Amino acid sequence: AVERTLSIIKPDAVAKNVIGKIYSRFESNGLKIAAAKMKHLSRADAEGFYAVHRERPFFKDLVDFMISGPVMIQVLEGENAITKNRELMGATDPKKAEKGTIRADFAESIDANAVHGSDAPETAKVEIGYFFPGMEVYNR
Ligand code: CMP
Repeated sequence: AVERTLSIIKPDAVAKNVIGKIYSRFESNGLKIAAAKMKHLSRADAEGFYAVHRERPFFKDLVDFMISGPVMIQVLEGENAITKNRELMGATDPKKAEKGTIRADFAESIDANAVHGSDAPETAKVEIGYFFPGMEVYNR
């Protein structure tokens, strides 16, 4: 089915100037950009977005990293978009990510891991709503 998923290009990849290279991977693999914006997240933005991880030991470092510079936030749309985006990203830890994936090619560490992608339809819905009110996402 055609799905939507939330993708974030994290501060490390924005700083490396590879937004276009990452967009190109989405587009050449059947994912359309249905909404997009660059934003320097506030601490409250990042804590709210990652609220499910609040009790995890890595939460503080994760939030500190996500507010260390601007991020590029997009809604990706396409057939099986959630799974497809996760395949394109590779494993959360870049050291474990398969060759040719975004994280293997552009990421340095489990925190500075270049991209985020929703992990399931329910989280995609919540995450898209968090950054894009309904009117800001386009059908095409
Ligand atoms: P992301 O997909 O953005 O979701 C939560 C983030 O926490 C994850 O990518 C990693 O960048 C970061 N993180 C840091 N340590 C861990 C860990 N041990 N397990 C999972 N995620 C981690």
